[in-house]
Amino acid sequence: MTDEENLYEPVCDSNQIEVGKEAVFTVNSRKVLVVRSLEGDLFAVEDNCPHANTNISGGRFRNGFYACPHHGARFELSTGKSMTNLSTKPLICFDIKEENGKIEILVPKKEKVVFRPGGAPPGFGPPM
Ligand code: FES
Repeated sequence: MTDEENLYEPVCDSNQIEVGKEAVFTVNSRKVLVVRSLEGDLFAVEDNCPHANTNISGGRFRNGFYACPHHGARFELSTGKSMTNLSTKPLICFDIKEENGKIEILVPKKEKVVFRPGGAPPGFGPPM
């Protein structure tokens, strides 16, 4: 990853996400859910619930946890850690900061998975 790809992207003014509110932005072709907790802390996570690979926005949050609106899986907002057995995978978290009245997030581009013949387990590669 180059330094150019590793820059914070301003997404909105600070006052556009009030306490207890959320918003979804697209950065580097990824949907990012930004949440401002009741304590005023900001969190940024990929808008994707790993339970069924669908959006997680529109859920409920309190005490540092976010509950998916679909089946109720709960995740810790600061780490992405799954708190229920509905998902073994965590949420993907991004760095977020608030400076000069702007909310900025650092979202790396999603790396493409490249198929490498010979690197796949037996039965999953090209026919020999
Ligand atoms: S899709 Fe989120 S809990 Fe099922």
